[in-house]
Amino acid sequence: MAEELVDGFGRVHRDLRISVTDRCNFRCTYCMPAEGLEWVPRDDLLTFEEIARVARIMVERYGVNGIRLTGGEPTVRANLPVLVRLLADLGTDLAMTTNGVSLPLLAGELHEAGLRRVNVSCDSLRPDRFAELTRRDGLARVLHGIDAALEAGFDPVKVNCVVMRGVNDDEVADFVDFGRNKGLEVRFIEFMPLDADGIWTNDLVVEVDEILALVNQASPVEPVERTSAPATRYRFADGVGSVGIVASVSDSFCSTCDRVRITADGQFRNCLFAVTETDVRALLRSGAGDDEIAAALEESVASKWAGHQINRVHFVRPHRSMSQIGG
Ligand code: 5AD
Ligand code: SF4
Repeated sequence: MAEELVDGFGRVHRDLRISVTDRCNFRCTYCMPAEGLEWVPRDDLLTFEEIARVARIMVERYGVNGIRLTGGEPTVRANLPVLVRLLADLGTDLAMTTNGVSLPLLAGELHEAGLRRVNVSCDSLRPDRFAELTRRDGLARVLHGIDAALEAGFDPVKVNCVVMRGVNDDEVADFVDFGRNKGLEVRFIEFMPLDADGIWTNDLVVEVDEILALVNQASPVEPVERTSAPATRYRFADGVGSVGIVASVSDSFCSTCDRVRITADGQFRNCLFAVTETDVRALLRSGAGDDEIAAALEESVASKWAGHQINRVHFVRPHRSMSQIGG
């Protein structure tokens, strides 16, 4: 067996994203229909023990060194701190992407259980617009959640803002000020074609250059050296803080991608945009040994494609939306 999860392009995969639920207490317009989606039945969700087993195989055999919990909204899953404890035992970097509403209640407990970093999704700082975008009147709670995360000692706390033309592109400067005032990094993300309603069009994408220009207008920045992380980072020239821009559509970072994903119902995906999956849950529940599971993971990664090619005519949308894959 190989000692790395390596694909045909030489990319070694060390970053695991685990979706723990496809449910969410928000209904962001670009992610879910108002009535929600058809949720995965409880019995089909991986148990915490099953999740921890797959994660352990990946950490111990393949040197996976980063794990991120995603959803839907991960905090909707009952007893999440119990899972955090199991995963923290593996000794990797441990992070979560959340909509933030549950952080006022849970931040302390999650941090204590071993979670160290959070990214809070927030696409508007205006209560009315926020309510329109998420179909929930939740901005105050989310802002409170961000504060709770900072107080609990999460480091770093980042804010993810998906920029959409004519929707919230007039708030880039406000987000810049917000991040600098709070001492946290805002990451502006290009809108990707993974929305449940199929509202995505290229016209809605505000590309990295344009976002960068808006950031510069608010306060001049200079680039920070690139890492394998998808965000290109910039520091403010006056020394106060930094921002990230994720050019997920215009300049895909596929060539350095080191991520794999597992969905809440136990399907292993070698790409956010993958159209095929490996049924790890079936293996787990048919009594497969670690070697057999590992072999399936290796095979999936070995067959990974070069990249998503969103801007090409032959791009095929995955049948799952973001809330079902976990971002
Ligand atoms: N394009 C870009 N980002 C998205 N997210 C959800 N849907 C999309 C999309 N279509 C973001 C969320 C969250 C993270 C999981 O992905 O806002 O920050
Ligand atoms: Fe929930 Fe995140 Fe989807 Fe919004 S984008 S509905 S917060 S899963």
